[in-house]
Amino acid sequence: MAQWCTVEEKMSNVIAVMTRKGGQGKTTIATHLAVRLAQWVAAEGKRVLLVDTDPQGHAAAALGVDAGGRCVGDLLLGKRTFKETVLSANRPDVPRPNLYVVPADSRLSQSRSRLERDIVLDMMQEGRRYKGPQMDEVLERALGPYLSLFEYVILDCPPSMANLEAATFKITRWAVVPARMAYLDSHGARLNLDDVTAAQDSGYGVRIAAVVPTFYRERELVARGQLGRFREVYGERLVAEPIPQSAAVEQAQASGQRTLFELDMDLRLPVTQAMDSLARRVRAL
Ligand SMILES: Nc1ncnc2c1ncn2[C@@H]1O[C@H](COP(=O)(O)OP(=O)(O)OP(=O)(O)O)[C@@H](O)[C@H]1O
Ligand SMILES: [Mg+2]
Repeated sequence: MAQWCTVEEKMSNVIAVMTRKGGQGKTTIATHLAVRLAQWVAAEGKRVLLVDTDPQGHAAAALGVDAGGRCVGDLLLGKRTFKETVLSANRPDVPRPNLYVVPADSRLSQSRSRLERDIVLDMMQEGRRYKGPQMDEVLERALGPYLSLFEYVILDCPPSMANLEAATFKITRWAVVPARMAYLDSHGARLNLDDVTAAQDSGYGVRIAAVVPTFYRERELVARGQLGRFREVYGERLVAEPIPQSAAVEQAQASGQRTLFELDMDLRLPVTQAMDSLARRVRAL
C-alpha cells in the first residue's frame, strides 16, 4: 500500500525532462537519468520510476521494454490502475531490478482530449458547484499515491505538453531542460525557462535543476561560442556539463536498447561521463 505523505514530500522526488522543442535529447536524458539513479539507489533497496508523458512513446522502447499496449493515458482516465500500467524495466540481459516504467503510446493524445472534455461536461452539469478534478490535477491524482514508493520519478515530456502542461508542473519539483547546441535552437530553451517561470508565478513549486547543452561538438568553434553564450544567458551555475554529440548513443540503442551506462560500464566515453555528471547533479539536489 502506498504511504500517505504531504504534497511537498510527494513532489520532492519528481524530475521532469522538458523543453518545448523536439529532438533536443529529452528522452535520451530521461532514460539515462533513470537508469543511473536506479543503479545508485539499488543498494539501499530503493526504486526509480520513469513515466512517459509523450504520445510518441519512446521511453519504454529506448529501454527495450515491451509496453504490451499499456499507456499512461488509461491511468489518467481511470480505466487502468497504477499496478496495471507500470512495468518492470528489468531484463535478463540488462539487469535493472529496481527500475520501473509507465509507458505511453499514441492513445495518450486521445486520452488528454477526452479528459478535458469530461471535465468540461462535468462542470457544465454541476455548474459552479463542480468540485471534481481539474485538468492540472490529473497526473497528481494518477501518480500521487505512488510517488513515495520511488526514490526518484523521472518524467519524459513531449515537445508539446498541450493540456497536460499544468498537470506536469503541478507534480514536478525539478525541471531538467535540454538545449541542443545549434544557434537557432537556443530560443526554444529560453521559451521553456519562461514556461517554468510562468508556472512558478502561478504558484507551482517547480524549480530549474539544470539547462543541459546537448549534441555538443567541442571541436567546432561555433559550438564553443554557443556554449559561452548559454553560460552568459543562463548563468554558470544553471548550465550543466555539455553532453557531447556521439554515435555511441545510437550504438547503445542499436545493441539491444541499452543506455550508455549499460554498454560503457567503465565510463570510458566522454558522453557517458557527461551523462554521469548530470545524474550526480540530480542526485545532489
Ligand atoms: N548526445 C547525443 N549524440 C548523438 N545522438 C543523440 C544524442 N542524444 C540523443 N541522440 C539521438 O538523437 C535523437 C533525438 O533524441 P531524443 O529522442 O532523446 O530527443 P527528444 O528531445 O526526446 O525528441 P522528441 O522531442 O521527439 O521527444 C535520437 O535518435 C537519439 O538517439
Ligand atoms: Mg522524446
